[in-house]
Amino acid sequence: MKTTKITIGCDHAAYNLNCKVIEHLKERGVEVIDVGTNSTDSCDYPVFAHAVCKNVQEGVTELGILICGTGIGMSMAANKHRGIRAAACSDTFSARLTRAHNNANVLCFGERVVGMGLAFDLVDNFIDTDFEGGKHQRRVDMVTDIENSESNRS
Ligand code: RB5
Repeated sequence: MKTTKITIGCDHAAYNLNCKVIEHLKERGVEVIDVGTNSTDSCDYPVFAHAVCKNVQEGVTELGILICGTGIGMSMAANKHRGIRAAACSDTFSARLTRAHNNANVLCFGERVVGMGLAFDLVDNFIDTDFEGGKHQRRVDMVTDIENSESNRS
């Protein structure tokens, strides 16, 4: 799959890195939908996680990127959304394998954890890797089954 369009969001802790990542994506020829935040003023990461996940759920873009201080809060918020498989990564092997094996559709990382060069490599590995399917599809389906049975519990 050639990723031509992606939704990206961040909080105040990642605003600076987010701007650099957007530039990097545009240089690669990827169209970017930026849902904010738009400054380093304090804000709440779940708001932006929700905006990115909504675009992925609705198929506006197949993939999303979320950046906060650590990547963890964003991934927790993102994974509360049906159909979202978000992975917090700080190494390129994981960023590649979470596409190939987990069919992750949202990449999360932290400005306080990774530098700019590594952030670009995380993004490149993520968007350049296709899901392998096969036995991995069965496992991803099992994760979806858990999601469905949990949301049916009262
Ligand atoms: C904000 O200070 C910080 O808590 C947030 O960016 C993120 O790291 C949460 O997981």
